[in-house]
Amino acid sequence: MVSRASDILEMIFERATSSSIFINREVLRPDYIPDELPHREEQIARLGSILAPALQGARPSNVFIYGLTGTGKTAVTKFVLKKLKQKALQLGVNVISCYVNVRQDDTTYRVILRLSECLGLRLPFTGLSTAEAYRRFIEALDAKSAIFISVLDEIDFLVRKQGDELLYRLTRGNEELAHSKITVVGITNDIKLVENLDPRVRSSLGEVEIVFPPYNAVQLEDILRQRAKLAFRPGVLGEGVIQLCAALAAREHGDARRALDLLRVAGEIAEREGSSKVLLEHVYKARMEIERDRVSEVVQTLPLHGKLILYSILSITRGQGSATTGEVYNYYRALCRRLGIESVTQRRASDIISELDMLGVINARIVSRGRYGKTRIISLAAPYEAIEAALLEDPRIRLLALPRH
Ligand SMILES: Nc1ncnc2c1ncn2[C@@H]1O[C@H](COP(=O)(O)OP(=O)(O)OP(=O)(O)O)[C@@H](O)[C@H]1O
Ligand SMILES: [Mg+2]
Repeated sequence: MVSRASDILEMIFERATSSSIFINREVLRPDYIPDELPHREEQIARLGSILAPALQGARPSNVFIYGLTGTGKTAVTKFVLKKLKQKALQLGVNVISCYVNVRQDDTTYRVILRLSECLGLRLPFTGLSTAEAYRRFIEALDAKSAIFISVLDEIDFLVRKQGDELLYRLTRGNEELAHSKITVVGITNDIKLVENLDPRVRSSLGEVEIVFPPYNAVQLEDILRQRAKLAFRPGVLGEGVIQLCAALAAREHGDARRALDLLRVAGEIAEREGSSKVLLEHVYKARMEIERDRVSEVVQTLPLHGKLILYSILSITRGQGSATTGEVYNYYRALCRRLGIESVTQRRASDIISELDMLGVINARIVSRGRYGKTRIISLAAPYEAIEAALLEDPRIRLLALPRH
């Protein structure tokens, strides 16, 4: 027994340390920054030429970058910053760049904290007012006599939570600086945000705008091929695997992250199954696995009433394919009665349905029913099994799923 157990372990460890599929799977992860970014030459040149004046001590224009998710905004920006920093070092000019992802640091205070860190200034985590923190940041910046390029990535998270006050102040920061200059690069994938920004912020942030269009299938193939060379052992990718990953991702709005995820997970599945090659079937399995993870992540974060409404939609659409808002609300109220809890109002339920739509687990389409007003026709936007499995992770939902007597 003992020797069998250690044999098994030996095999597991051996497998974990040597892969017959990958040379380096890390290069397929989303945070890896490749040295080559095919099909983004135009955006790289554009951003590079906007920021280049910094090398002569002049303030570059503020830049507003937008485009759908996975179109290379973060990768291109980090790449250009890295090169700019190298050049500045060579030339001996004082350029400081600071990248902050405001999805991770999603309060005004924390963003100021991060920006200060880039100057070597450590502010306390609490205890200062935002205004005081900002004042100290500006003071430290001015003392540097530098060109400060601040990149705020995923700004929609900050703006939604805290408004656009900080963006406004930073874009006007130069009025408070005597020796340094500040440039703001704002990045978002939320096109709606662009329209909703305060026009003053929009005009000062968007001195220059760069749009990142989605990739098409052929472009995604190039991106995948270049990364696959570094990631996989020669010859392990089966016929058509790259094309399939690219085609599937192109169908969903040309997202390079999705394409790379598919390729990585397909490789991992092939490895797990002990296959010596990555085949088309592994890509299809990968798609299912990714979808299941995505749905499970979304569903887990839903409050109970969100889950109950989703469960109602699931139950009704199972029989008839789609559901109306009214049907869902009635079903949901019955579930609440069974659980002995109070239901939310129809209006709130309607908001929850919109949120589920935004999260991509359902589709809710508004249709007019003549003099009966408008209703929404709701259908699932993810596989039934994936949603069901995710909901059943909640014990309260499991209770409802038990057959009634
Ligand atoms: N042209 C490209 N060449 C090589 N890799 C790319 C290219 N464009 C994107 N990628 C890769 O695709 C993934 C997603 O890109 P990135 O993170 O830059 O997207 P994004 O536009 O910032 O998306 P989001 O809006 O979701 O933040 C990364 O792993 C990135 O390296
Ligand atoms: Mg990004």
